[in-house]
Amino acid sequence: MRRILITAALPYANGPQHFGHLAGAYLPGDCYARFERLRGNDVLYICGSDEHGVAITLSADLAKRSPKEHVDLFHAINKDFFEKLNISFDHFSRTTWPGHIATTQSIFHALKENGYIIAKTENHLYSETEKRFLADRYVVGTCPKCGFEEARGDECQRCAASYESTDLKNPRSKLTGSPLSVRPSEHLYLRFDLFKDRLKEWIEKKNWKENVVRFAMSYINDLKMRAITRDSDWGIPVPDMPGKVFYVWFDAPIGYISATQDWAQKIGKPDRWKEYWLSPDTELVQFLGKDNIPFHAVFFPAMLMGQNLPYKLPDQLPANEFFMLEGRQFSKSDGWTIDMDDFFSKYTPDLARYTIAANAPETADAEFSWKDFQMRCNAELLGKFGNFVHRVLVFAKQHCAGTVPPKHELNERDRQFLEDIRKLICEAEAAFVDFHLRKATQILMELAQLGNVYFEHRKPWKLAKNPETGKELETTLNCCIQCIKALALISFPIVPDAAQKIWNQLGYHSAIDQWAKIRDTDVPTNQKLPEPYVLFRKVEDEEITAQIEKLGKSKALHKEVVVKTEFPVADPIIEPLKTSIDFDLFQKMDLRIAQVLEATKVPKSKKLLKLLVDLGFEKRTVVSGIAQHFEPEQLIGKKVILVANLAPATIMGIESRGMVLASHSGALLELPQIQGLPAGSVVS
Ligand code: 2FM
Ligand code: ZN
Repeated sequence: MRRILITAALPYANGPQHFGHLAGAYLPGDCYARFERLRGNDVLYICGSDEHGVAITLSADLAKRSPKEHVDLFHAINKDFFEKLNISFDHFSRTTWPGHIATTQSIFHALKENGYIIAKTENHLYSETEKRFLADRYVVGTCPKCGFEEARGDECQRCAASYESTDLKNPRSKLTGSPLSVRPSEHLYLRFDLFKDRLKEWIEKKNWKENVVRFAMSYINDLKMRAITRDSDWGIPVPDMPGKVFYVWFDAPIGYISATQDWAQKIGKPDRWKEYWLSPDTELVQFLGKDNIPFHAVFFPAMLMGQNLPYKLPDQLPANEFFMLEGRQFSKSDGWTIDMDDFFSKYTPDLARYTIAANAPETADAEFSWKDFQMRCNAELLGKFGNFVHRVLVFAKQHCAGTVPPKHELNERDRQFLEDIRKLICEAEAAFVDFHLRKATQILMELAQLGNVYFEHRKPWKLAKNPETGKELETTLNCCIQCIKALALISFPIVPDAAQKIWNQLGYHSAIDQWAKIRDTDVPTNQKLPEPYVLFRKVEDEEITAQIEKLGKSKALHKEVVVKTEFPVADPIIEPLKTSIDFDLFQKMDLRIAQVLEATKVPKSKKLLKLLVDLGFEKRTVVSGIAQHFEPEQLIGKKVILVANLAPATIMGIESRGMVLASHSGALLELPQIQGLPAGSVVS
């Protein structure tokens, strides 16, 4: 039996979670946890709320709540969200759990004793009125580069310059408007730069996804010391430094350890956390979204390498890409979201789990779309999977006295069917092992389809009419019942409620609990079958239309967003391939990341937007035919890919120096985006 500690990135208790978060970490983590438990392994799935940091105090201030009230509220909301979706955490803790203080401080002490912490005094902005230092996010002022008077504390939203908040002219508190002065303050820095070689050596041995390794390695090359303290009263106190707390990214990953300690205390075995964290036999698997890769692959491992206890470092880091809603990022303030209460009043968690698993953002960004949801529910879950289970069980009930019929002599087709079932179970197993949730979901539907094809081929309704084919009928139904058992087994990690119901409809009273045993044992002949019932309902067109219409409507009242793009699930329009070109010709093209600084409509044109983009080394104007798909303000700050060496062209009297790349399919258009790399980066 393997001991597997599974974690999913601790969500901030700073707003409700949505399907985007679910797809990135919590659902893949849950399916994996359920699968490994089924295989009889000792699994502990740990998570909890990340409750410190400036983003939380700022949101709490703006909402006129204390930080504690704020995190209590969202901790409860998020815990409820995960429960509704059947996410089977063994424990969902929080970083305000009092035990987290000692764990964080002890790791800090060890790092300090080992010489990895240094103190530096630097100037910071201080508010006399509020009697406190203010972090960047609390500050506005005049941009030192362009003179914009409402520039943010770390970056100007007008000219995209980035700077220290102390460089701002006329700095003011975002909350009270009071003027700020510069004062020295001492902060602690962790010498991450001293871990470069150890980190590289450690990561080189990992068989992680290529993008995770590449991303981590590029971070390591550039590793510098980083501040680990902040002037604040909300967070884990820094020993002997009154008025200072640890930076949230120092305490949050330690939260995985404290959450396990919290779990151990709650089950009355306070030392059991050590079996997971301090034993080299434990496999530590950390699920996360790609934005969290540096913290899990570089910073947290370095923190653990620099202290003295033999804490586990991650063995696997299944990092996922982003998951959007109808082509755009989920955004509560823009109303581009799904009301979860409304969702759960209409649909079961399995429907969401299945749709998200089928579209899991494993290798590229992916999305939830309502039309796809309808197709998954109707064509796949109801049409292929539920329908097969139901028609077989109804048939067996009617023709085999309500029990599992025996299997007689098998013909070639029966034998092939049983072999294919076994093969697909093994393929599903391999997919779950490799964190390929999307593939496991495809295999599930392949198995349901296999059952349907066999059923159609064997035509039990014909066999039932002729007393001489009674044995064939029984054999056919028995084989179909073995297929249903396999469906219950491999679907359990993804759609646990439906799987358990199918298992019970096969006449079992137990929980689905042992992968190998279920895989290798036939549903026994003569087992009594209860009354079958339908598992999934049809999702009607009107429901989907209503959901699509709601998008973007419930946004904050002060700003109306006009969403012009429609989101029909169009059949892909396949353009014929162009004739081949030489590599040399392709290489002549200079593609660059460009950040949009300004976007305005071109007068008298429906299609054109005039964009001012920053290429890192220069700013330029380009004209782009995307006005029917975006409101100008949606593009500001976005990074796009620009053909940077295209000869200039004058369009509607404007000189355009380059072309923004976009992908089209019928009426749909999407911009390929690289958001993490700086403007000017080459795309090749
Ligand atoms: O990105 C986030 O939501 C962070 N709260 C993740 C923290 S993961 C861990 F390190 F705690
Ligand atoms: Zn500026």
